[in-house]
Amino acid sequence: MIKILFVCLGNICRSPMAEFVLKQKVREKGLTHEFYIESAATSSEELGNPMHKGTIRKLEEENIPYTDHRARKLIPEDAEKFDLIIGMEESNIRNSKKIIGEGKPNQIKRLLDFSKHPKDIADPWYTGDFNQTYIDIEEGCECLLKYLLTKK
Ligand code: 4NP
Repeated sequence: MIKILFVCLGNICRSPMAEFVLKQKVREKGLTHEFYIESAATSSEELGNPMHKGTIRKLEEENIPYTDHRARKLIPEDAEKFDLIIGMEESNIRNSKKIIGEGKPNQIKRLLDFSKHPKDIADPWYTGDFNQTYIDIEEGCECLLKYLLTKK
């Protein structure tokens, strides 16, 4: 069982989008039972809130199933529970380390560091561009899954 926790600032836009995109990719490959996937926030801004409407709209447009989501904060125990803690941008990595420490070697990563062009994924809370967020997250999840399946 591979346990993955996606992290962003608010846990209402990017990290839940990544959670449901990866769950769908894993489902399509018939590997649901081999993965445990969740998401969390580094800030307390949106705790208990559902996904942003822009994220829900984009998931529906792409026919990606989702379940009820409530933002929750990253906690130190997540470092024990999850194999990988994956942020959307560099500040997510810094803030995650403030909460859980340095983690195990290679445990805390940025999603697009698994792709051929590592970069931050812009925050649609500020940009309003959920399409670009989806393009980046879809690519990141595809590369992440390929990486994990070749490592197995
Ligand atoms: P996210 O976007 O980190 O992709 O979930 C944000 C959502 C809420 C806030 C910031 C970013 N906020 O400040 O409330």
